[in-house]
Amino acid sequence: MFKKKYFSYESLKKLNTFKINVTAKKIVFVKTIQSLINVWNTCKFYSIPFIILGEGSNVLFLKNYQGIVVINRIKGIIVTEKKKTCLLHVYSGEKWNDLVKYSLRIGFFGLENLALIPGCVGSAAIQNIGAYGAELKNVCQYVDVLSLNDNSIKRIYKNECKFSYRNSIFKHQYKYGYAIISVGIKLSKIWNPIIFHSFKKKIKCTNITPYSIFNYICYLRRNKLPNPKKTGSAGSFFKNPIISKKKLKKLTSLYTNIPMHLQKNGLVKISAAWLIEKYRFKNIHIGDAEIYKKQKLILINRKNATGLEILKLSKIITICILKKFNIFLQPEIDFIR
Ligand code: FAD
Ligand code: EPU
Repeated sequence: MFKKKYFSYESLKKLNTFKINVTAKKIVFVKTIQSLINVWNTCKFYSIPFIILGEGSNVLFLKNYQGIVVINRIKGIIVTEKKKTCLLHVYSGEKWNDLVKYSLRIGFFGLENLALIPGCVGSAAIQNIGAYGAELKNVCQYVDVLSLNDNSIKRIYKNECKFSYRNSIFKHQYKYGYAIISVGIKLSKIWNPIIFHSFKKKIKCTNITPYSIFNYICYLRRNKLPNPKKTGSAGSFFKNPIISKKKLKKLTSLYTNIPMHLQKNGLVKISAAWLIEKYRFKNIHIGDAEIYKKQKLILINRKNATGLEILKLSKIITICILKKFNIFLQPEIDFIR
């Protein structure tokens, strides 16, 4: 019989950036692959739900979690240097932004546009994190996943990862019963800058360096996004919708200046923040759940919002946007029940 006193019903408030005050039956920090396997085996044996988290910056807990939350702190970086490139084999519990800073310190480039994104390296691969014209898929060589059923580790090479906008195979085929253990990242000594269109006016193209891009992006993000230490959020709540040119034509006949990017497949990604802004929600809030004033794609927990209040607000926004623009906003975040 499972010893019930093993459960401590601890709060997850400090372990999810939305700062939702729910409990888990138990929270276990793991630093090694073996300890992750041990927790999983216990959960499997006693049929207890199990979830693995990095920094909890892309999840919304809707109620107390009736299982064990494993906080991944499996760390380490192995550097294999070649003449002009290097391969970083990074364990999944490393913090993403620490990796960005480390890569700049050792003089290898390619991560600077992804500065200051919260979360761990393993989760970065699940989400194919992206910002300012860059995505993880640009540098990712492989992802190692541990099958929690037979403890085998499988290497999924980049062309099998099915990376796309905020998506990958790890949100589907490898979602349950697997843990991401490490990610292979290839960087270059020769800098190939990604100058996102909004920088062009701001940065003089003659004196840009990877460090100036890093600093500029940190500055932009600190100004635009809620500080995860102070305000609860999970960054963008919704994905930017990708629509057909036909649908875009209808929209542009009604509205001007819609921020958009043409995709390689001929579809068009438009700004969800703009759609929400255009709807002009007037001081809408559900308890302490509200829309962040400086960036309308972000829902925040002002203080004591519950996951259900944030969900309710998101549903109202989705319905209003669907009715007004005939566009469905898909959530970017992962709901935990
Ligand atoms: P978590 O929230 O802990 O986990 C996310 C999901 O992955 C969960 O389902 C979890 O169970 C699963 N998971 C976590 N680790 C593992 C593992 N090792 N193995 C298997 N499954 C696992 N994202 C962007 O792409 N671009 C941005 O610019 C950006 N800006 C943000 C700004 C703010 C202020 C915030 C709060 C978030 C932002 N995000 C952004 C979203 C978020 O930071 C990323 O999605 C990040 O990669 C999530 O990492 P995490 O470790 O916190 O994941
Ligand atoms: N805009 C508005 N109103 C707003 C905010 C933005 O109209 O309140 C318009 C502006 O015209 C702006 C455009 O939308 O130029 C784009 O805004 P922004 O540059 O802030 O980017 P975004 O599309 O809202 C995406 C990502 C962010 C990422 C930034 C920077 C998604 C879902 N979000 O936001 O990622 O940091 O680009 O590249 O793709 C996240 O995923 O959590 C996240 C924060």
